Amino acid sequence: MQRILVVDDVEINRELLRNMLEEDYIVEMAEDGVQAIHSLAKHCEGIAAVLLDLQMPGMNGFAVMEEMCLRGWMKRIPVLVISGEYAIEVENRCFELGVCDFIHKPFEDSIVRNRIRNTLELFSRRNQLERKVKEQEEIIRIQAEKLREEHSFNRLMMEYRSAIREVETKLQVLNEEFSQEYNRNPFEYIKSRLKSPDSIFEKLRRKGYPLTLEAIKENLTDVAGVRVICSFPDDIYRLADLLTEQDDIILIEAKDYIEHPKANGYRSLHYILDVPIFLSHEKKYMSVEVQFRTIAMDFWASLEHKLRYKKNWDRADADEIVAQLKSCADSIEDLDYQMQTIRDKIDRCSQGLRKENNRYENK
Ligand code: GTP
Ligand code: MG
Repeated sequence: MQRILVVDDVEINRELLRNMLEEDYIVEMAEDGVQAIHSLAKHCEGIAAVLLDLQMPGMNGFAVMEEMCLRGWMKRIPVLVISGEYAIEVENRCFELGVCDFIHKPFEDSIVRNRIRNTLELFSRRNQLERKVKEQEEIIRIQAEKLREEHSFNRLMMEYRSAIREVETKLQVLNEEFSQEYNRNPFEYIKSRLKSPDSIFEKLRRKGYPLTLEAIKENLTDVAGVRVICSFPDDIYRLADLLTEQDDIILIEAKDYIEHPKANGYRSLHYILDVPIFLSHEKKYMSVEVQFRTIAMDFWASLEHKLRYKKNWDRADADEIVAQLKSCADSIEDLDYQMQTIRDKIDRCSQGLRKENNRYENK
């Protein structure tokens, strides 16, 4: 039989509850909060539920719940409050502390028994579910650990690394050609990264895919990532076109967050490319995610990224920061296009100057 702890300072209430419950449960009694905590400390694992009065001399029901929270017992043992209190604030405070149910005095035999039975059933289902989730997580952890140590996993990572190098080289070639032919660089710098094993496994798990090499290859397109930081918006499109026009590159997917910015203000051009790598015995296509953005937008995105990973924001602070970031993103767009217009003017002036010089030299 399951054990129930009844906590009430009035003897007649305790007796009433004992009579109702003793047929189905072993009933423990406590006359006040101190006795209740003592009894819980003694039989913690063995107590299936606590029926708790609120108003008691000395340590009252709230103090008992606070102590139970501190000791982590509220999560393990369902608490049902039995009280004559009808104030909504009191009931809400109880639920905030993690109470499962609230039974009003004077209590009715069948209601008390049904509520306890339901609560115990719900709690046991929840515990079963939590256990299952923990077991699953453990299985996934072991699978991930095994996969990480496999030679084939390390080989796949090497192949993604090679694909990153291929894209970087193609971009560097374009950059060098541009700087010789037109005296300018279409991008400022490149940042590349190979997704870490932990974040590969986390993404597979989050998306419900098995932890296998096949699942990585088929479903994750961002294991190899290249970020290209340009000075001006039109360089982004020019460079992206030049790259995808190359006959060994296959454009799998394009997301244009410059033409269609995200609601938060994020602007970048994302391409998923299949890129060939040349190994000792074969030629293989690997997926690479290439993100193109301006310097100013890159600065914005790193700050905005911090916002995503910070938890426990105060709602008002979070709203204000989101609004400020959006407004900065819009200003960045303005600034990027103004800078581009200035660059065009400078280009036109220097072209004019060159023509002047040529005419003078040819005279
Ligand atoms: P993920 O599952 O996060 O990879 O997103 P997705 O597969 O739907 O692709 P998407 O093209 O939208 O985003 C790919 C990557 O772009 C993300 O992993 C981020 O690195 C970056 N990104 C996309 N949206 C945002 C954003 O709003 N803010 C910032 N800072 N980065 C973003
Ligand atoms: Mg992604």
